[in-house]
Amino acid sequence: MFFKRNNKSKQEIDSHKLPQHVAFIMDGNGRWARRRGLPRTAGHNEGGKILLKTIKTCNDLGIKAMSVFAFSTENWSRPKAEVEHLMKLPNEYIDKYLPMLKDANIKMNFIGFIDDLPDDMKKNINYAIEETKANTGMIFTTAFNYGSRDEITHTAKVIAQECLDGVLIPNEITKEYFAKKLMTHDLPDVDLLVRTSGELRISNYLLWQISYSELYFTNKYWPEFTEKELKKALLEYQNRQRRYGGLKGEEK
Ligand code: IPE
Ligand code: IPE
Ligand code: MG
Repeated sequence: MFFKRNNKSKQEIDSHKLPQHVAFIMDGNGRWARRRGLPRTAGHNEGGKILLKTIKTCNDLGIKAMSVFAFSTENWSRPKAEVEHLMKLPNEYIDKYLPMLKDANIKMNFIGFIDDLPDDMKKNINYAIEETKANTGMIFTTAFNYGSRDEITHTAKVIAQECLDGVLIPNEITKEYFAKKLMTHDLPDVDLLVRTSGELRISNYLLWQISYSELYFTNKYWPEFTEKELKKALLEYQNRQRRYGGLKGEEK
C-alpha cells in the first residue's frame, strides 16, 4: 500500500520497509493550547483527535503494533484538575471509539500500573481489552500510569520471587526471559520511537524496549502531528541504516 506522492517529498512509503512497532511520546498538548490562549485541557482533547487519526493511518498502512504514552507515573505531580481531566479521557475514548476500533480489527492493549487506577477506569480498560481480544489486526497499546523504571523494578521482583519459590534458578534469567516478564511481553521491540514537541528525551518510557529503536524527534506539538508528519517520520525511518553493532553494505 502506498501513500500518494505529495509535492514536499519525492519518496513514497515502502510497505516492505515499515517498522513493525512504532511508539509515540505524545508531547506538547499543553503548549499547543497555551499558544492559542486555551486551557491545557483543550490541548489534551485536540491531542485525542490526532491520536485517533494516527491509529487509523498506522492500521491502514499495515503496521503491526502501535504504542502511545498517555500518562506517566510522573504525571501525578500535575495540578489535580489536569490529572482528573487526563483520567477521564480513556473512558471517553473507549465509549466513543471502541466500535470503530473493533470494526477495524484493532486489538486494544494497556500497560502500566492499571490496578492503581480508579475502578471505573479499570472496568473500561478491561472491557476494551475483552471486546477486542479476538481481533487480529494492529495491536494498539496505551501506556497509562506507566513508568519504565518501575516496570523493570517490578519485573525484577517477580523474577526474584520465582527464584525464592524454587521454580527458577538465576542462570535461567536470560534477556529473553526478562523481556517475557515485562508488561510488553506480547509485543516486538520498538523499531521507531517518535516524540513530538521538540523535547529530546525519553521521559521514562519503554527503556528496555527501545534499546535498538530508531529515534525521531519533531518540533511539532502532538495536536499538529498530522498524517503528513507521520509520513515524514516513516520515510525517515525507512532511509535509516540499522546496524545493530555490525557492518552493512560495502563495508562488509
Ligand atoms: C503530553 O502533553 C500529554 C501528557 C503528558 C499527558 P503535555 O501535557 O506534556 O504538554 P506540554 O509538554 O506541557 O506542552
Ligand atoms: C511524557 O511527557 C509523558 C507523556 C507523554 C504521557 P511529559 O510532558 O510528562 O514529559 P517531560 O516532563 O517533558 O519529561
Ligand atoms: Mg509535556
